[in-house]
Amino acid sequence: MPKPLLRALTGEAVWPPPVWLMRQAGRYLPEYRALRAEAGDFLTLCMTPTLAAEVTLQPVRRFGMDAAILFSDILVVPWALGQALRFVEGEGPSLPPLRDGGALAALRPERLEGAIAPVLDTVARVRAALPGGCALIGFAGSPWTVACYMVEGGGGGDFPAARALAYADPDLFAALIEVLTEATTRYLAAQVEAGAECVMLFDSWAGLLPPALFEALVIDPTETIAAALKQRFPALPVIGFPRLAGGMLSLYAQEAGVDAVGIDTAQELRLAAAMVPEAMALQGNLDPYALLAGGEALRAQAEDILDAARGRPHVFNLGHGILPQTPPEHVAGLVRWVRDA
Ligand code: CP3
Repeated sequence: MPKPLLRALTGEAVWPPPVWLMRQAGRYLPEYRALRAEAGDFLTLCMTPTLAAEVTLQPVRRFGMDAAILFSDILVVPWALGQALRFVEGEGPSLPPLRDGGALAALRPERLEGAIAPVLDTVARVRAALPGGCALIGFAGSPWTVACYMVEGGGGGDFPAARALAYADPDLFAALIEVLTEATTRYLAAQVEAGAECVMLFDSWAGLLPPALFEALVIDPTETIAAALKQRFPALPVIGFPRLAGGMLSLYAQEAGVDAVGIDTAQELRLAAAMVPEAMALQGNLDPYALLAGGEALRAQAEDILDAARGRPHVFNLGHGILPQTPPEHVAGLVRWVRDA
């Protein structure tokens, strides 16, 4: 019997729906904080296969999730291409901003395979240790979202330099997207070869773009990556997460070549269901703040989501990542409600 997550991603309306949560491994878990302290810094944790595999498995053991998601980060790709990366305690990622042809030419795509070797080791270890029905998700950031951090030199959420550069120097921007499209394809293919059973592309900042740029910088690169992966692995399910895409969700669902779409918190799930093909799985979309709050508000929202997606292929999830302050008991309660639905 195929794993519930893989059945849902290939178009089956599994009931109750399989459940996992974005950022299910992380600071809200005391056992994560302990291993994170042991590793010292976040990148070391990502690049130490024994620790990264253990962190990946922590939420699976504690909550019995239907999926494990590789413990790594979307910024591993720029780091592997040679852009210096630091995670500053309490502030997030910091990189030297990439804003001209010289900085683009300094990227070293040929370094990718060597740099990601520890991540592939983690994938293989997790796959070997997974409990029966639990599926392993590999992932990467989408070229646009990764480019936002590379050009800006960090996070923040508004990305003024990246958005301005897309207009001011479209050729440079297109060249950067092309490098990332190629590297991301190789990175995800390597994860599948190492044992990932499906892959997810996180496009957390897709919603910053107007429609024409959304097509060129979000849909087109995603389609290129999905097509290249399907050519090598015809049965591989691909999940796209064009966060805050709004009305562009329907074009994305038709054209990006993905099998499932992650739905963000701002989309009404019934409307989202009407915007995507019937056989396409929906993943989402509980508000991480409802999970933080717990209680009746959480239960009511979870039930509404279950009801909205009933009869459709659905993977229960959040609309964005778990907040670090979330009590682990709220996660346990949510998983129980979904299972008892
Ligand atoms: O459990 C999982 O979901 C798997 C691991 C995972 C992480 N990051 C671990 C992480 C995944 C899938 C990601 C994706 C990711 N990383 C995204 C896309 C999803 C989203 O949240 O929109 C983005 C934009 C990033 C970039 C990133 N990584 C930022 C902006 C930050 C700093 C903010 C923060 O939450 O601290 C990170 C760090 C990061 N990635 C942490 C974790 C567990 C926290 C690091 C720590 O332990 O200090």
